[in-house]
Amino acid sequence: MRDKTESMTSVSAADGAHAQKRTSSFDVSAFIARNLQLLPVPGLQDIQLYTAHSGSRLSRLGGTDPDAPAPYWAYGWGGGAVLARHIAENPHLVRDRRVLDLGTGSGLVAIIAARAGATSVVAADIDENAIAAARLNAAANGVELDLLRADLLDGPPPSVDMVLAGDLFYDEALAKRALAFLETCRAAGIDVLIGDPYRAPLPKERLHCISEFSVPDFGLGGDGSEARAGVFSLATVPDL
Ligand SMILES: C[S@@+](CC[C@H](N)C(=O)[O-])C[C@H]1O[C@@H](n2cnc3c(N)ncnc32)[C@H](O)[C@@H]1O
Repeated sequence: MRDKTESMTSVSAADGAHAQKRTSSFDVSAFIARNLQLLPVPGLQDIQLYTAHSGSRLSRLGGTDPDAPAPYWAYGWGGGAVLARHIAENPHLVRDRRVLDLGTGSGLVAIIAARAGATSVVAADIDENAIAAARLNAAANGVELDLLRADLLDGPPPSVDMVLAGDLFYDEALAKRALAFLETCRAAGIDVLIGDPYRAPLPKERLHCISEFSVPDFGLGGDGSEARAGVFSLATVPDL
């Protein structure tokens, strides 16, 4: 497993402070392997992910840090699910291409891209626990990912052919930054696909819906309820 986690310099100061509050002896990977269940992904039965359940005690991961990131990586999100389903059904979209999975969480979209024949897959997230989970999930599904703990949104377009963003438009401020970054990527000739269950901050007016699925979304309460979710490309010329 290639892992760029240690070499990152672009993690925010807040993230760094958070990392310091965690005792160095706490082994997040061991915690995930012990406390979460490796379960098949609905609609993608040959993929298994470490998934939270009622006894997972995920609150332990944050320790005493009130700013600890929410454990998004432990749940199934409609945006990642729809993107993963679309790529599984259309593997030519990523085959022989360099892919970035932006906001990888569990790593689901990255794993599907690797399975579909991408040349390389960078799985990026700002949450160190997500990186640990994505590493375990990649290994469980027999794929190689380049794991990157970083916030790429204020930087230049990455050296990839395709950026995939599953469920990254759940917060207004983040959605603005994500859209600006993805439009920069698009202007640089990089293909962009977004998966989202029509959350409020999704900039629908800037997107073309190319596919829809009904998929489970933890945002609906975690009872397996399904949401209508879309796969979107960016409009060619942003209406600025
Ligand atoms: C709702 S989860 C979706 C995870 C995954 N893509 C999926 O659909 O299952 C959003 C993820 O985006 C990550 N994230 C938030 N802001 C980010 C940023 N600026 N850069 C990279 N990842 C970010 C979060 O840590 C979280 O893991």
